[in-house]
Amino acid sequence: MKIIEVKDYQQMSKKAAEYIIDKVTMLPSIKLGLATGGTPIGTYKNLITDHQKNGTSYQKVTTFNLDEYVGLSSEDKNSYSYYMKDQLFNHIDIKQANTHIPNGEAADFQIECNKYEQLMTEHGGIDLQILGIGSNGHIGFNEPGTSFASKTHTVNLAPSTINANARYFNRLEEVPTKAITMGISTIMQSKEILLLISGESKRDALFNLMNGPVNESSPASVLKNHPNVTIIADEAAVSLIRMESSMEND
Ligand code: PGA
Repeated sequence: MKIIEVKDYQQMSKKAAEYIIDKVTMLPSIKLGLATGGTPIGTYKNLITDHQKNGTSYQKVTTFNLDEYVGLSSEDKNSYSYYMKDQLFNHIDIKQANTHIPNGEAADFQIECNKYEQLMTEHGGIDLQILGIGSNGHIGFNEPGTSFASKTHTVNLAPSTINANARYFNRLEEVPTKAITMGISTIMQSKEILLLISGESKRDALFNLMNGPVNESSPASVLKNHPNVTIIADEAAVSLIRMESSMEND
């Protein structure tokens, strides 16, 4: 894993956008895996600005999102489908038909999960997966304890994830408790992974990723087994690693 350290959230967002723009320019028909949550919002803003200023085109790009809440319609402001349109898709020239997000209202979730996996396979797999990390080390909505062999599946969200996401809802009771997510093995199949980590609340997660063992109680630890992972992390997120290495050097 390669780690790029930057000063703050703004710098992380700028660097991540530059990274993605380079890839889209080199491979206009790139298959991108996309993440939601607070972390990539700044990255998406930079992609929009670049699209408007420099004309980087997404007409041939195909996207697959990591996850979606179970029970929310795509029109619901808290759905990830709505988020993606609002934060990115409505502001660039991507074709809506080329954007894919698991259906949180599927009649049969097993069929939906299988279909989503099949669709990714039919497209030749994901070239670049953008990832965030949960403070508990989750990737996508793969909570601690998820099998490394998992494919797209439905999950019960961990209480810490529900609490972390409550900031977007009026009341804690409104936060969905289930989601549909790419599995860990799905994520690991992408050819390249860009992991974005910002803020003090993520410093334990980054520390554990860098220093802890690879096992299923820490979903992100699996990334150590992937041949092409780049982490862009800001000072607040790396602070614990730095503290540790300066103590070792004393
Ligand atoms: P965040 O979530 O970007 O909102 O911090 C990341 C995650 O939970 O994977």
